[in-house]
Amino acid sequence: MSPRRVAILAGGRSSEHDVSLESARSVTEALTALGLDVSTIEIDRAGLWTLGQAALGQAAQESALERAPLPGGAVAAALAGVEVVFPLLHGPFGEDGTVQGLLELAGLPYVGAGVTASAIAMDKDIFKAVLRDRGIPVTRNLTLRPGEPIENRFPFPVFVKPARLGSSVGISKAHDHDELEAAVALAFRHDEKVLVEEYVDGIEIEVGVLGNRDPVASPPGEIRVAGREWYDYEAKYEEGQMELVLPARISEQQRAQARKLALESFAAIECEGMARVDMFVSREGEVLVNELNTIPGFTQTSVYAKLLAAYGIDYAALLERLIELALERHERRGVLAF
Ligand SMILES: Nc1ncnc2c1ncn2[C@@H]1O[C@H](COP(=O)(O)OP(=O)(O)OP(=O)(O)O)[C@@H](O)[C@H]1O
Ligand SMILES: [Mg+2]
Repeated sequence: MSPRRVAILAGGRSSEHDVSLESARSVTEALTALGLDVSTIEIDRAGLWTLGQAALGQAAQESALERAPLPGGAVAAALAGVEVVFPLLHGPFGEDGTVQGLLELAGLPYVGAGVTASAIAMDKDIFKAVLRDRGIPVTRNLTLRPGEPIENRFPFPVFVKPARLGSSVGISKAHDHDELEAAVALAFRHDEKVLVEEYVDGIEIEVGVLGNRDPVASPPGEIRVAGREWYDYEAKYEEGQMELVLPARISEQQRAQARKLALESFAAIECEGMARVDMFVSREGEVLVNELNTIPGFTQTSVYAKLLAAYGIDYAALLERLIELALERHERRGVLAF
């Protein structure tokens, strides 16, 4: 039997381009070790697709001459022959349903959330609206559009975020009105919609979810950042800035509640495949959902992989399971009459 062919999509147009390349490097290595035939497709910051990935040490193939804003030439040929596509793109134009839509159109099985769940999870404002509708406790926020006055009704500090980004890019903690104005201006450089969020003083936790219809939830891990006020970009990607405490130092009841809310959030947006659900446990002991990532950082040492490992699923098994889930969905939906 010839080995299963998998195509990894890496890079992408968002500011999380480099983070994606790291994830792709790790997944490529692990899938190759599992005996799969892996091809990588790199999307550069301008949105041009190339077969082969320079950043992974693989020579870009002939297609370097035919870089195109959509899969064409050698890229299209490589995609046509694969059994499953693994989008490892973080943020806009990758984690937000756009690439998932392209893969749906092409009729290709792919790993992770579908179009709707991807788009909802990418938008922190709409995500929380859906969760509120299901009675799931979320952090409170107000939403701003360009030109609207900033009417902050929360006590300082507050968090200010672009609605659709990740890796803490464009996010600030504002301690007074001047900082708030600067924070809103910064966030508007990244999106047309900005959230001003109530600050939750408490413990930050994350839960890994894996599955389609009947997903499992990992034990919650606690995010500890030493010498920093919050989990900003540097804390996320500089060595030794963040410590993942597993399991989180919260009560047994809070752990159970966090897992339950992670699964409910996953179901509320009809997510499939995987998700990392980021939450807070407030000083009062309440568990609040902050956001859900449908393509979390995915290296072997990323939080998501560590959470699933704590659940008893190692990196190789995790990848195999995700591919199975992708094929399961494709088969399940394949019988539908449209
Ligand atoms: N309401 C809040 N109260 C306290 N801290 C917050 C709040 N919102 C965000 N933070 C801090 O900012 C960090 C980044 O926020 P958030 O997770 O919403 O952004 P993100 O860029 O989408 O993150 P990710 O990299 O997980 O996709 C959080 O991990 C937390 O440390
Ligand atoms: Mg987060």
